[in-house]
Amino acid sequence: MVSMGKKIGKNANRFICNTCGHESMKWMGKCPGCGNWNSLTEEVISSQRPKGVTSQQRTKPTALAEIPTTQAYRYSSGMGELDRVLGGGLVPGSVILVGGDPGIGKSTLLLQVADQIGRSGRKVLYLSGEESASQIRLRASRLGIENSAVFFLNDQNIDFLGGYLQELEPDLVIIDSIQTVYSDDLSSIPGSVSQLRECTATITDLAKTSDRVFFLVGHVTKEGALAGPKVLEHMVDVVIYFEGEKHFPFRILRGVKNRFGATDEIGLLEMSGVGLREIIDPAQIFLSCKDSSVSGSAVVGSFEGSRPLLIEIQALVVAGNPGYTRRMASGIDQNRLALIIAVLEKRRGVNLANSDVYLKVTGGVFLRDPAVDLGIAAAILSSHRDKPLPLDMVYLGELALSGEIRAVPFLEARLKEIEKMGYRNVVVPAGSKYGKAFSQQLGVSEVKNLDDFIDLIMED
Ligand code: TYD
Ligand code: MG
Repeated sequence: MVSMGKKIGKNANRFICNTCGHESMKWMGKCPGCGNWNSLTEEVISSQRPKGVTSQQRTKPTALAEIPTTQAYRYSSGMGELDRVLGGGLVPGSVILVGGDPGIGKSTLLLQVADQIGRSGRKVLYLSGEESASQIRLRASRLGIENSAVFFLNDQNIDFLGGYLQELEPDLVIIDSIQTVYSDDLSSIPGSVSQLRECTATITDLAKTSDRVFFLVGHVTKEGALAGPKVLEHMVDVVIYFEGEKHFPFRILRGVKNRFGATDEIGLLEMSGVGLREIIDPAQIFLSCKDSSVSGSAVVGSFEGSRPLLIEIQALVVAGNPGYTRRMASGIDQNRLALIIAVLEKRRGVNLANSDVYLKVTGGVFLRDPAVDLGIAAAILSSHRDKPLPLDMVYLGELALSGEIRAVPFLEARLKEIEKMGYRNVVVPAGSKYGKAFSQQLGVSEVKNLDDFIDLIMED
């Protein structure tokens, strides 16, 4: 009996999906959980319950009205743009996951936050599994950070974290990165799905039972999702993506999940020689110096988070090899470009079948707002006909498959920004509602469908 018990108690191998966390006893090409191919990897699961979840003390249910609201106060991270994405600041007892490409500036951002928090009289623990103390020190001196309230720790074993926290009592803990820490309870390697889940669970436990804020750095995969299963995103309170093109200085903090505030808020930062700087007035940074004689360039009013941004879109339409034409988009989804081209071809007979189409959003931002469709169509048409668009015009509208121009949300806020930036003309979807004040200062043209629109901008 005893030997049998031991046998069952031995470590078992499981196959776990990297994307959704589905577990299976045998390897399969396709994950039954999420349908992804080749995402199952083998991991050794210890059959003992991890130490983190020992029998807890019983707690009593509390009436909702009796829970003190003071627990939900926030404090500033010292960086306005980060506070904005967080929904107004750091909430004690929360876990914030920051994901982004390697080299985008995650460690820099968090070191700067550590410094700001340290200066406000709080203690910070910076746990790095990726860089040595001297490397962090080097970055700190580059950023001009000399802060005795920021403590550095190079220990990847998460089992000791609780002890360190009791010793040091920090208010903010930064784990750089969650893929490099591990727990001894599991024998799988750091970064594996079960380690990620285990370590994140330990950290959320530590956060919930204290007033500490935890920042976790997470790596992203080639496709741009956080490495590790979606499960990781479910376990934490806030998920922020740090985006941008490495060759541009601009960086965007994008909230994708927030238990304490609105999501889809963005923060704008700029990487300089001395760390990240906030962009306070983002109005002009995504506009290049326009030349009136160049075709294929259009300005759109995109709405990112809670504010409008004027961004220039450039298109280049050139003769291609019939049958092997290329469509390349940077800054918008490739499929969206294909869709807009298809609508142009079908609804207006614009012949792009033998042309290569390249599209570029300036500044290295990625636009998801559907209201920029019209501007994309305008830029493509302008390049196709080699006819420059008016310099002082902005385009707003979503393109439906039928060729109709759909209404856009937050129209007034967009118009306000357009006016502030000194543009004189704007194209909006027909039937849009906006204040009388705008129609006096701006030449507002309403378009119902693609035909109207092309007649308006391409008239000779
Ligand atoms: P880092 O924070 O190490 O990125 P991550 O942690 O996301 O991998 O940032 C690395 C890049 O940022 C590196 O290419 C150099 C650049 N950088 C600056 O341009 N200015 C600076 O002041 C610092 C510290 C880094
Ligand atoms: Mg780093």
